[in-house]
Amino acid sequence: MAVALTILHGSGAAPSRRTLSVAPGTTILKAAHAGGVDVTATCGGRGRCTSCRVKFLAGLPPPPTIMDEVQLGPDLVREGYRLSCQCVLQQSVTVQVAPPLEERSFQMLGAGPGVKQLGRITLDSGIAKQVVKVTLPRQEHHQTSDLEQLLAAVGLTTADVGSAVLQGLPQALRDDPAGVTVTTFASGGRERVLAVERGDTAAMKFGLAIDIGTTSVVTTLVELESGEQLASVSSLNPQAVFGGDLMSRIAFAQFNPGNLRKLQTRILGLLNQHVEQICRESGVLAKWIYKVVVVGNTCMHHILLGIDPSHVGLAPYAPVMRHALTLPARDLFLKVAPEARVCLLPLVAGFVGADAVAVALATRIHESAEVRIAVDIGTNGEVLLGSRDRLWACSAPAGPALEGAQIRHGMRGALGAIDRTTVDDDIHVHTIGETAALGICGSGIIDLLAGLLDAGVIDWTGLIQVDGRDALPPRLRDRVVMRGEERQVIVLRPGEAGALREIVLTQDDVRQVQLAKGAIASGVAMLQRVAGVPPERVAELMLAGGFGNYVSIESALRIGLIPPLPRERIRYVGNAASLGAQLCVL
Ligand code: FES
Repeated sequence: MAVALTILHGSGAAPSRRTLSVAPGTTILKAAHAGGVDVTATCGGRGRCTSCRVKFLAGLPPPPTIMDEVQLGPDLVREGYRLSCQCVLQQSVTVQVAPPLEERSFQMLGAGPGVKQLGRITLDSGIAKQVVKVTLPRQEHHQTSDLEQLLAAVGLTTADVGSAVLQGLPQALRDDPAGVTVTTFASGGRERVLAVERGDTAAMKFGLAIDIGTTSVVTTLVELESGEQLASVSSLNPQAVFGGDLMSRIAFAQFNPGNLRKLQTRILGLLNQHVEQICRESGVLAKWIYKVVVVGNTCMHHILLGIDPSHVGLAPYAPVMRHALTLPARDLFLKVAPEARVCLLPLVAGFVGADAVAVALATRIHESAEVRIAVDIGTNGEVLLGSRDRLWACSAPAGPALEGAQIRHGMRGALGAIDRTTVDDDIHVHTIGETAALGICGSGIIDLLAGLLDAGVIDWTGLIQVDGRDALPPRLRDRVVMRGEERQVIVLRPGEAGALREIVLTQDDVRQVQLAKGAIASGVAMLQRVAGVPPERVAELMLAGGFGNYVSIESALRIGLIPPLPRERIRYVGNAASLGAQLCVL
């Protein structure tokens, strides 16, 4: 017999309430997702994070699983918290979903200063506007049509006109005696009519560059005539509630059209929100956006198009398609000009996507006379190495650990996250927004590990030196503890830096960062080896991506995240994937 699951969702005085009828034996997370209730599942329901935690308000919490104890700790377990992905329902219960961190407080990387930083570029978006005077059909005995008259004026054929243009055509042609503005897109020697607007709107030509990352989505509005960046919006990828990393996302959609559809509608919904917001902020009408360039990894690309990504997650990790694709915006229900061209850059492989192509374009690594390396650090990192002679690329899937997931007290770069640490005779922290410490984000963890390594708290293998702690300065020594079987470093005690609870770094946290670091470092090392490029031949290493811009280069060097190059040969290049997309818009 079904049991009732009541879920309270949202914060404030009046959280929303849903009651679902659930078959016994179902986990709370599965039941919530099936019922359309958002519960964040950063690790994809594997019990490796705390994002899906719920608090029992009525009904008996089941005995904690080992994952509950490890991830939540004894205090939260005692207070009735459980990981919803591990919690199997046997009786009717009421739970409260832990409030997610507010999106606006995340320190995500926007699009940056735009393509101007790249120096001289030739603007050729392919979008052209011309004002024409169309002679309307007048004679009954000489039948013609609005469209034929229009095409006669611009010298094109019916095959070059999208169906959405026809809907507003009679009105546009008759509304303004001064003429109409015809927008065309030229590509591959062909021209296509994208819009016909009454009056003279020739100065209004805009494009969007969209970078869909596993964790964040950045949309940038650019003026096609000048190349100027007008506005930029970034948000968390709303698909993250179904899994923080790519493999979790693929597992959710694998051979399940319903779940694939959920992921697709999530991202399309967000893109339309971005269009709305960006238009509101800039005063540009959405119907004046005629070109959209989308970059993203292979999985994000497939999901956006509604293509099953199942085989991307299975050896030999073959994508369904790799070629560049152009389609009308109406096919994706994107609320810009209906015939606007949406251009998806080509993919390289199952785990090297269009975002890597965009990074190559933005960094101009393919034009370089010397060998350079671009490291796009993120949940699904990529490494490019090469010069104008040849380019190599590989994926370096760091996973969400560097974004705070799978870390005992990890969190993303939001208000209250420890983003900088220094270690001398004690541990000192800085938090984002200089507010009370809530947890530690990726850049804070890397700083911390570098500092602990220097101080001798962890050895070169990453082992926390509990046995050797007596050699440490007293304050630092007191932070190194053995609890049960677990080695820990107490980063903050309750009250320190405003922390409400203890924030620790566990031995397992160190191992998680080592795995993430290993993915990136081995990606770089492997490409160097395959290409036969020793460190002294690397002219420059460019750090790109949302994470890359916040990590301290010194700390990244110290823990071996990036190869040991002289500091002056390493530089930040910002959100290169978004920049590459902007270049393609223009
Ligand atoms: S622990 Fe449940 S989703 Fe990560």
